Amino acid sequence: MTKTLEEVIAEIKNRLDIVDVVSQQVILKKNGGRYWGLCPFHKEKTPSFSVNPQLGIYKCFGCGAGGDALSFIMKTKNIEFMDLIKDLAKEFGIELPANLHKDKYSSDLKTQMASACEKAAIFYHDLLINHSSEEIKAATDYLTERSISRDIIDRFTLGIAPKSYTTLYDILKKDFSDEVLEKAGLVLRSREGHGYIDRFRGRVIIPIQNESGEYVAFGARALQKDQSPKYLNSADSLIYNKSKLLYGLYTAKDAIKQEDGVILMEGYFDVISAQAHGVENVVGVCGTSLTSEHIKLLSRYTKSRRIYLSFDTDSAGQKATNRGATIIKEAFEGLGNIKQFDESYISTSDDKYSCEIRVISPPEGKDPDEFIRTVGAESFKKIVENAPLLIDFQVNNFLKHKKEYKTPQEKTKYLKEFIPVFLEINNEIIRSEYVKMVADALNIDEKALKNEIQKYAYVNSLQPVSQSEIKRIVTKNVSISEKAQKNLLSVFLVTDSHFTFTQISEMIDNSYFSNETLINVKHTIDKLICTVNNVRELIEQLYTAYIENPEKQQLLTDLIGIAETFTNLSPDDFKCVIEENIRRIQRCRWEEEKEKMRNLYKNADEDDTEALKIQMQLRDKINNLVKTGEN
Ligand code: CTP
Ligand code: MN
Repeated sequence: MTKTLEEVIAEIKNRLDIVDVVSQQVILKKNGGRYWGLCPFHKEKTPSFSVNPQLGIYKCFGCGAGGDALSFIMKTKNIEFMDLIKDLAKEFGIELPANLHKDKYSSDLKTQMASACEKAAIFYHDLLINHSSEEIKAATDYLTERSISRDIIDRFTLGIAPKSYTTLYDILKKDFSDEVLEKAGLVLRSREGHGYIDRFRGRVIIPIQNESGEYVAFGARALQKDQSPKYLNSADSLIYNKSKLLYGLYTAKDAIKQEDGVILMEGYFDVISAQAHGVENVVGVCGTSLTSEHIKLLSRYTKSRRIYLSFDTDSAGQKATNRGATIIKEAFEGLGNIKQFDESYISTSDDKYSCEIRVISPPEGKDPDEFIRTVGAESFKKIVENAPLLIDFQVNNFLKHKKEYKTPQEKTKYLKEFIPVFLEINNEIIRSEYVKMVADALNIDEKALKNEIQKYAYVNSLQPVSQSEIKRIVTKNVSISEKAQKNLLSVFLVTDSHFTFTQISEMIDNSYFSNETLINVKHTIDKLICTVNNVRELIEQLYTAYIENPEKQQLLTDLIGIAETFTNLSPDDFKCVIEENIRRIQRCRWEEEKEKMRNLYKNADEDDTEALKIQMQLRDKINNLVKTGEN
């Protein structure tokens, strides 16, 4: 008999050893009962990343990251939960339940939506290649004019959506419910409110596949010049997230791995042209801006994280290049230096580069599609081979305009925007070379420029910069009550508490919790403690329950951390911890109520009986506070 998904997950967890799993990415050293290493999630020089084999978890004391073996793999490989389970099941030779799509982890609706998209793609494609009409001829002519051969049409399943209103709907409604078709973004409710019409009409259809090759969305190019918008794109849906999907990735995957680099383009037809003409390691964003999710996705395929930006050469494209570069840098923040120079140099650090950004900017002023079609794929490949690093591209661009800046004030203002670029170069020798180059070009004093850069660096070092740092400060300021509530919840996770889960549960009433997330976690714990045998299992189950919820996983990691401070306590001391935290929560609550009443009292009329009542209640609260304070 085949196992249920829960059983499969349990077995996988059983087979995974947290130390083994982490060791694949981090060099670990044993110290006491734990293993320590450099955190893979933030940059550090001394290890604050620990692995606890007893609990099967990892935790970084520097950045707060934490979780179990599955979440470690998900995070470091940036892979979705179900995909990971499928991978691991295969690796361990565990049979997956046959009706996987019917269980709670991936809904039937999603499967149907993907199936509807596939049917639509095939329908539009078939119409284009096997039928004839004036419209279809117009589309074929259009594609021919763009040098899109029949071969390319087949390879990218290109199609045509005719102008009439319900061509697709009439076909697909036989197999799919209106809900599925609407949710998949294939049809729209008609304006009159009854019935549905096709979403894409009078357009060339570009089906979009996800990473595993499923059809999930569409781009649709206008056929007429006056037709607006030029591209109509599917909106995000249950199966399509623009910020996480890259057009062409499914077909480019192997090439990206092989070339150990990926070329990012802006347009569907840029990607189509490139891949069709033998530049295979190309992907595109689908009518949206580049996100760090896109970059994380790509970094799974290129080991050296070499990313070429090949956007339009017009000024909008240049802006997109700079924006793209910023996104890439942010995505790799804290993971190491960005490769900024080509020469092998004497380095004092052994850090591997976090990424390498190069810019493809053909001099002809064309977008990649046009360039490949008119100048040729071979020339394009040469440009890729010689693509400058981002820093050189930026310096060149910067210096292109140098003649426009003549007065000292103009030069200074102009330089100000460029100073952060210098600071990204960590190596002093290289940095000073660039400083010299720019100073010479602008005809300014090199030393003065160096000093200004130093000043800028100093001022910026005084401000908290990273997001994680800001988060840490904010977390520090959570109210005393919330801290006490966390302490209280964490006692469930103490490994040697002398009490059973039921006994602990009886000591901790749900009413002590006021924070929404904590209440939620408490409910989950209450449910789980009926079935688990020990703390390790409880933690495991909780991580699984929160696998799609990073915020709760983080909370869980915090709770485990707190729980560790409550180990080795006598039963009496353990009880004391619980009682003390309950007292704190109550004190906070009374303080709050007291404040509220003070306000009410201030606002009430003096001889009002209401005011008198409030006054008496207020006195009670204060008495309560005094009493608990004496304890
Ligand atoms: N885009 C879009 N909506 C628009 C215009 C553009 O979603 N109204 C997206 C499309 O993904 C398009 C990309 O932005 O492919 C690049 O835009 P542009 O350079 O205008 O398109 P090209 O690909 O050059 O289009 P074409 O060659 O068909 O004119
Ligand atoms: Mn373009």
